[in-house]
Amino acid sequence: MKDLLIVANWKENKTWEEALDFLSEFSKIYEPKPNVKVAICPPYLLVPEVSNYVRTNNLSIDVGVQNLSKFDEGAHTGEVSAREAAEFARFAIIGHSERRALGETDSDVKMKVEMAIKYNIEPIVCVVNENVPIPSGTKIVAYEPIEAIGTGNPDTPENADRVASAIKSKYQGIMHVLYGGSVTSENVRRFTQMQNIDGVLVGGASLDPKEFSAIVKQC
Ligand code: PGA
Repeated sequence: MKDLLIVANWKENKTWEEALDFLSEFSKIYEPKPNVKVAICPPYLLVPEVSNYVRTNNLSIDVGVQNLSKFDEGAHTGEVSAREAAEFARFAIIGHSERRALGETDSDVKMKVEMAIKYNIEPIVCVVNENVPIPSGTKIVAYEPIEAIGTGNPDTPENADRVASAIKSKYQGIMHVLYGGSVTSENVRRFTQMQNIDGVLVGGASLDPKEFSAIVKQC
């Protein structure tokens, strides 16, 4: 059995009260698996609370963030540095297409990856195809074709596997290529059973505790 990583990207969803409802429900039904690592990336405001909840309740999941500042610290209003996030987060999603659509460039992505690595956060670099540059030091990549995100139209497992394979052969040191885009408990297995796919990045379907725990169960 290969090692899998299942990452929830909550995007701009959930108040603390809603997150608490999710966590209390999820902790009742979630069945950890020895070969599957699970991470939740809540909105920034909730990161310390979710992290404390996970620790206090001994939930075997990790916490991640959805973005990082490209700077170390200083006069950057509204930004959160890797140094600050590192207290709570094990992973950071970097270069999601929704952020690139707001103007984030490949060079920003590179700086953010460097910051993550400097403070021992594992970056998860999102790419829309195999031609997007992946900064050195990256070990986890998420292949997320834009047409598949939030549309209910996932890529085919065969094409996702082809892209994952191309990425792995182009860049040494990439340990995990995740697939993202309309992943559900119904289709997850078709992706994770592909040879070169090592997990999934889940948006919409990660917001519901039953559905997200079913994804972990089915993967
Ligand atoms: P989706 O989002 O699962 O809602 O398609 C995936 C993502 O954007 O990471």
